[in-house]
Amino acid sequence: MFKNTYQDKKVIVTGHTGFKGAWLTIWLLKLGAKVVGISKDIPTNPSMFEELKLAEKITDYRQDTRDAKAIQAIFETEKPDFVFHLAAQPIVSLSYEDPLETFSSNVMGTAHILEALRFADYSCTAVIITSDKCYDNVEWVWGYKETDALGGKDIYSGSKGAAELIFNSYYYSFFQNHSSVRVVSARAGNVIGGGDWAKDRIVPDCMRAWSQDKVVEIRSPEATRPWQHVLEPLSGYLNLGQELALNPKLNGESFNFGPKAEYSHSVKTLLQDLSEFWHFEKPTDAYQVTANIPFHEAGLLKLNCDKALFHFKWLPTLGYEELIRFTSKWYYDFYQAQENMWDFTLQQIQHYEKLAQAKEIRWTE
Ligand SMILES: NC(=O)c1ccc[n+]([C@@H]2O[C@H](COP(=O)([O-])OP(=O)(O)OC[C@H]3O[C@@H](n4cnc5c(N)ncnc54)[C@H](O)[C@@H]3O)[C@@H](O)[C@H]2O)c1
Repeated sequence: MFKNTYQDKKVIVTGHTGFKGAWLTIWLLKLGAKVVGISKDIPTNPSMFEELKLAEKITDYRQDTRDAKAIQAIFETEKPDFVFHLAAQPIVSLSYEDPLETFSSNVMGTAHILEALRFADYSCTAVIITSDKCYDNVEWVWGYKETDALGGKDIYSGSKGAAELIFNSYYYSFFQNHSSVRVVSARAGNVIGGGDWAKDRIVPDCMRAWSQDKVVEIRSPEATRPWQHVLEPLSGYLNLGQELALNPKLNGESFNFGPKAEYSHSVKTLLQDLSEFWHFEKPTDAYQVTANIPFHEAGLLKLNCDKALFHFKWLPTLGYEELIRFTSKWYYDFYQAQENMWDFTLQQIQHYEKLAQAKEIRWTE
C-alpha cells in the first residue's frame, strides 16, 4: 500500500485525538509509521482516540497550535518525515458561538505549522488539510475545481478559505525553493464513519440517540449531501503525501478529494438506510423532523476531483451500500456488541484496502 512510503517514517498528525485524525493515526500505524500526535484536547466523550487507547501506541502531545513557540519546539525535537495537519475547530455551529477561536485555531494554527516547517533543516513532506468549504459557494450545480475562487459567507468557511490563502502565501514566500520541505493542501467534504461523536453532526447525533432507544431530531430531511466515508479522503491524503515525496512538481499544489456525484442522497434516505442495523419497526421511526434551523447552512457543494484522478489515478473506493454498512456496523458493534474496537477498526481498514485493490486503485500498489 502507498508503495511502503510510510514504513518506519515519523509522521506528525495534528488533530489526532479527533475523528479524522484518529482514523489516520490508526491507518498510519498499520502502514508501519511512527506517529507523533499534536492536539489541544480530546474533543468528545466517548472518543475513538480513548476507546482505542491510541495514546499508548504513539508519541502523544497535548498542545495548542496557537502557541507558535511550542509548535516550533515539537517540530525541532521530532524532525518528522511527513506532516498531516488536521487540527482545527471544525463545527459550523460552534463557529457562530466563538468566531475568534475558530479563526485563531484554523487560520493562525495553520500558519504556525507552516512557520515551524519553514525552519526545518530535515526533509519533510506536509499535507495541509482544509475543507471543501474553502470555496466561495455560489450554489451552482457544477463541481468546484482547485482553481475556483476561495471564500466563505460563514465563519467556518471563511476560516478554511483563509487557511488556504495562508498556505498559498507560505508556498510562494518560503517553500517554492525550500531545500528540504514540500507542501500541498487537500480539500474534502463532509465525511461519515464509525467513531465520530462531534456535536451537531447528523450521524453522531443519530448514533447517540439510537444507542439510547431515542428518536433523533433532524432539521432538513430533503437536504442532499455528497456522503463519503472517512477512509476515502484519508486515502487521498496518504496518496498525496506519497506522490509529493516523489514528485517535486506537485509542491504548492492543492487537490480535491470527494465522492462521485451519484453518491449524493438526502438526509432522510441516509438515516433510513443507517437505521436498518438498529431494528426500528419502520425506518421512519428512527427520526423526527423539526423545523428549527438556527443558523445559515450552505447548500450543496460538489467537488470536481479530476486533478487527483489525472495525477495519481485517485478514486473513491466504497459504493453507497458499503458506506452505510461500514458506518452503521462500527457504531452498532461499539454500542451493542462490545467488540474490541481496535481490532474491528483495523479490520475495516483492511477490508477497505481490499476493496480498493479489487478496483485496482493505484495507491494499493
Ligand atoms: N469531519 C468532517 O466531515 C470534515 C469535513 C471537511 C473538513 N474537515 C476538516 O478535517 C479536520 C479534522 O476534522 P475532524 O472532523 O476530525 O474534527 P474533530 O473535531 O473530530 O477533531 C479536531 C481535532 O483538532 C484538535 N484541535 C482543535 N483546535 C486545536 C488547536 N487550536 N490546537 C491543537 N489542536 C486543536 C482537537 O483537539 C481534535 O484533535 C479539520 O481541519 C476539519 O475542518 C472535516
